Amino acid sequence: MLGSLATPLFQTSTYTFTSAEQGERRFAGEEEGYIYSRLGNPTVTVLEERIAALENGERGLAFGSGMAAVSAVLIALTKAGDHILCSSGLYGCTFGLLTMMKEKYNIAHDFSAMESKDALRSRIKPETACIYVETPINPTIKLIDLKMVAEVAKEYNIPVVVDNTFSSPYLQRPLELGCDVVIHSATKYIGGHGDVIAGLVVGTKEFLDSVAMTTQKDIGGVISPFDAWLLLRGLKTLPIRMDRHCDNAEKIVSELKHHSKVTAVYYPLEEGAEISIQEQQMKRGGGVISFEIDGTKADAQQFLNKLSFLKIAVSLGDAETLIEHPATMTHAVVPEESRLEMGITDQLIRLSVGLEAWNDIWADLKQALDQI
Ligand SMILES: Cc1ncc(COP(=O)(O)O)c(C=O)c1O
Repeated sequence: MLGSLATPLFQTSTYTFTSAEQGERRFAGEEEGYIYSRLGNPTVTVLEERIAALENGERGLAFGSGMAAVSAVLIALTKAGDHILCSSGLYGCTFGLLTMMKEKYNIAHDFSAMESKDALRSRIKPETACIYVETPINPTIKLIDLKMVAEVAKEYNIPVVVDNTFSSPYLQRPLELGCDVVIHSATKYIGGHGDVIAGLVVGTKEFLDSVAMTTQKDIGGVISPFDAWLLLRGLKTLPIRMDRHCDNAEKIVSELKHHSKVTAVYYPLEEGAEISIQEQQMKRGGGVISFEIDGTKADAQQFLNKLSFLKIAVSLGDAETLIEHPATMTHAVVPEESRLEMGITDQLIRLSVGLEAWNDIWADLKQALDQI
């Protein structure tokens, strides 16, 4: 518009009609055009088109948070009596949402490691309405083979929903592997600067047209035009940032593995069967590492307190390195038994490696590890 390089910010809640008849035609769907920003906004439309192109899907939809996106999709896909089969590890609030759906609406869920086609088939029930997968899983960084899951799901005609937050479309594109719906907490790598809470969904036009007119419009978790504008700015540097996150993470992983206070390091490039999955579906390992320290919960907390410039904070994918204790922070809502089943011990630390000089990041981690 007017030759503007940056996408204009349409910070408006509503749109004027030239006549009462035009308003009637727009509401009746007989004429294209904006009506009200909960139903659509030109800045948001540009963002939705770009994320659809990046994920290679037909349509994108933007939301006010990752959780608004997750809930809009799951509520759209299920009804009372249905069942959702999940990867054996999920972001804490997604776990909380599923628990609420079970208690209030009789929508059950189960977890599966999805380690083979047969293992997956054995967990699918007649009432399974969708398969919901995080990969890499937050915060254990376990991987799920998306192509395999999509192939099994097709046998049963069940949609596969993938939370692609940890990879971003630069590292992993689930729709190209046969999955049906992709969700992002755009708060993370897509925003990239720690200043927005937002969510994005990509899928078929038919499915997202229905979400736009039901769970998005009527529950109302839409994004603000300004936040969409910030995400459009973030997207411009996504590949460069992702490569730097990956470069830094790879170096930190190799240092952590040799520190005497570190008993395990979890990262997609680690040795074992997951390498082939990673090679198949992820371009690189990403910027999030988890590791276990030799000690107790108190030692883990002491380690965090000894850090000097790394920030103790939840969230991930920001320019700054962020470090947290999942058992007492992001996954505190998960009951202890389920938490331990997911592999979230009291010694587990999650590190979102930022864009700083990697040796500065390592120097701070090392001095804090040396002190416990
Ligand atoms: C994997 C994953 N999915 C979804 C969410 C929820 O996103 P938001 O905080 O933007 O609502 C998060 C947040 O940490 C996450 O890590």
